[in-house]
Amino acid sequence: MDTSRELNKFEKIAERKREFAARRPNEQLLDFGVAEPRHDPSPKIIDELVRASRLPAVARYAENGDERLPAAASHYLRQVFRVACPETQIVHSMGIKAALGIMAVALLRPGDVVLSTIPCYPTMITFAGYLGAEVYGLPISDENSFIPHLEHIPQSILKRSKILSLNYPNSPTGASADLQFFLRAARLCDEHQICLVHDAAYGPLTYGCDPISVLQVPEAMHCAIELHSASKIFDAPGLRCGFVAGAQEYVNLYAIAKTNVDSGQYLPIQYAAAYGFEHPELIASIKSRYERRLRLLGETLERSEIRFHEPRGGMFIYARSPSAVKVSNTWREMRNGLAFSEFLIEEFGVCVVPWDEAGSYVRFSATFDHPGLSEQSVCAELESRLSQCDFKYSD
Ligand SMILES: Cc1ncc(COP(=O)(O)O)c(C=O)c1O
Repeated sequence: MDTSRELNKFEKIAERKREFAARRPNEQLLDFGVAEPRHDPSPKIIDELVRASRLPAVARYAENGDERLPAAASHYLRQVFRVACPETQIVHSMGIKAALGIMAVALLRPGDVVLSTIPCYPTMITFAGYLGAEVYGLPISDENSFIPHLEHIPQSILKRSKILSLNYPNSPTGASADLQFFLRAARLCDEHQICLVHDAAYGPLTYGCDPISVLQVPEAMHCAIELHSASKIFDAPGLRCGFVAGAQEYVNLYAIAKTNVDSGQYLPIQYAAAYGFEHPELIASIKSRYERRLRLLGETLERSEIRFHEPRGGMFIYARSPSAVKVSNTWREMRNGLAFSEFLIEEFGVCVVPWDEAGSYVRFSATFDHPGLSEQSVCAELESRLSQCDFKYSD
């Protein structure tokens, strides 16, 4: 993936938002572009942060942390995913983004290959570029139900591959993987000495299926690490805390590289995140918020005749860009998701994020937050704006 194009995409959206605000100052922008939880974390997590910051000696370098977060993480993996992962195979992170960068630095050298689904969260790919490694893209689209065909990867690529980078529940597609897929992925990685890096940012946020972890596959404990975070599941993206768990060899590599990158997350922050992982029941209300919002958004898009994939996890609806839109009695061709997203914001003040790497799509985020408007009112307003168009799909 061209990350400069990625940046460009977000800059373009920001520019279109500014233009809309300048052109129509009295009209509210409906923002389904933001991918960040806009609710505050549980007061209990904050109380723990405050309490811990008054403890003696907590402002010292934390390095790879003490035993509390690994113990909490081990409890969380057992409770939520039925995974038995010893505390010795867990190290804290300053969020998944930081952990992805550290794993890239630990494992990639010029000429190595990263296998990554396309589209994807971009950090691993960006680091591959910094480090002179190549990316072998595994396109995910409705043709493969958003699960990559691992059996199509050439042997010559597998020989040079150091990392297989996956993320399920997946952003932006909303797909969930199943254990058979994780088993195939783990076997492939085991056979070719590839580190399977699984980004579980949305791990417990599954709908209509149980949360699954790659670490449920016994083979994965030799070749995989899973990255978890407090950001999405505890409404705490600014806390910058999570953990890396799994194969001892790779957790050790991560821990060593990490000590050269940072000197550990502030212990009170680790304890606040640990409080969350010790109390996975806090996730239930957050999960039901996204489930309800995704249902509402889905019903709205369905009535508006915009095609999309029912999300099985995460907090997004991945909607297909129509090939043409009729507005004011004129059909306008939509070249791709970018063109459709620009049209939506310019004409109707509806902000979504385009994803054109494997088909023409846009992403609606269920994190929308419009002060003074209920979830129902936001969706009703979206429906009223979309009702001014007809959408045409070429297939
Ligand atoms: C798939 C995915 N991975 C990782 C992250 C970042 O997680 P963290 O806040 O733990 O760095 C995000 C945030 O948007 C994400 O969507």
